[in-house]
Amino acid sequence: MTHVMASATTGSSGIPVLPGLDATWRLARDGYAFGQRGFREVGSDAFRTRLLARDVIVARGAEAAHVFSAPDAFARRGAIPRSVLHLLQDAGSVQQLEGPAHRARKQLMLELAQDDRAALVAALQEAWPRTVAEHVGREVPARTVASLALTRAALVWAGIAVDGDRERQLCGEFDAMVSRAAAVGPLNWQARLRRRRTEAWARDVVRTRREQGDRGTVSGRLAHHGEEGRLLDERTAAVELLNLLRPTVAVARFVTFALHALHRHPEWAERIRRAERSAARWTADEVRRFYPFFPMVGGIATAPFELGGEQLQQGQWLMLDLYGTDHSPALWERPDAFDPARFASASPTAVVAQGVGDRLAAHRCPGELATTDLLVATLELLAQGPGLTVPPQDLRISLRRIPAEPQGGMRVIFR
Ligand code: HEM
Repeated sequence: MTHVMASATTGSSGIPVLPGLDATWRLARDGYAFGQRGFREVGSDAFRTRLLARDVIVARGAEAAHVFSAPDAFARRGAIPRSVLHLLQDAGSVQQLEGPAHRARKQLMLELAQDDRAALVAALQEAWPRTVAEHVGREVPARTVASLALTRAALVWAGIAVDGDRERQLCGEFDAMVSRAAAVGPLNWQARLRRRRTEAWARDVVRTRREQGDRGTVSGRLAHHGEEGRLLDERTAAVELLNLLRPTVAVARFVTFALHALHRHPEWAERIRRAERSAARWTADEVRRFYPFFPMVGGIATAPFELGGEQLQQGQWLMLDLYGTDHSPALWERPDAFDPARFASASPTAVVAQGVGDRLAAHRCPGELATTDLLVATLELLAQGPGLTVPPQDLRISLRRIPAEPQGGMRVIFR
């Protein structure tokens, strides 16, 4: 606080201070636009403020992404509220580790989520038509269909067999972990209680894989992963299993946005339908860049660092605005236009919707390539498959709501 007041009153060079004492209410009001409005207000790509009564620097752009992605420079522990953490990565997970322990676990997550993604995509290609067929002729939110198809695909990929009812239940449980992560109070608590049940199920899966000596399936490999000569404890293995399944199901949010994009830009639907080279891949990457999903990532500096011409201390809390970076005019031409053709020259790695830095050394999402491939597959299935109608509805997407989705739910009728 002393520091905030000092910079504000002296107007010293370096990172400007956002006017006001605490910006938590602004974050609640502005959602994904919180960073961008702040940057505009102070005329800089970074500002200092307070969130939940804690001193924080919020930043976007190339310099901030570079600083933030240096291996082990920003610890994730204590960098996001517990209400969010417990519904997403959770304590004990790879995201909460640093240094060699992080590297050992991350290697495994990359082997499973990245190297084995072709099997996941194949499972989705099988599950999608079956799931769509079950919903033909009635108005249904796109996310309902996509989440169920992705749940089925994720379970097949992981080598887990459950009956149809349990499949639907799990789908609802994974979906709630993401929908309720940003909620405060009863909605969040309810989802956390529900998560405990899902965690008990995941522990059962781990135990069974160990009893069966299964080292071949994705869940079996995870259950038998050892660190420092010991198997992961059952709870940690279960948490990591959920960290593979939950975000795979969350790709349904991008699928919903992909449908929104195809509806708004039928020329791209046509190019994908004609199997024009790169059309589906560019559209998938533009969906990840353009639409709001994961707003910011946070970290606590493990050593002094420099940003915006200011020398900052170890222990400084830094929030990297992912949405703001993906919409930064310094990095993207016409950032607020949806234009897949930009990827004819832009690199998909420049999209930071799923984190920054090296996938092994930093906390960048190990499921990024799987996400893109799943999106490419669904875009092709949507463009080439049986037609669908988008009934009249509100297609606007409010940036205030985290996670965002089209106001009318992106309801569709599959024919
Ligand atoms: C649905 C779209 C997805 C989005 C928007 C997303 C977003 C992110 C982001 C922003 C991070 C970085 C967190 C940080 O820097 O602290 C991350 C990390 C992670 N993601 Fe994803 N992700 C997605 C899909 C996936 C998939 C499909 C998987 C696995 C199959 C996955 C597994 C993980 C794991 C395990 C981490 C932690 C990595 C680490 O801390 O080293 N994600 N994700």
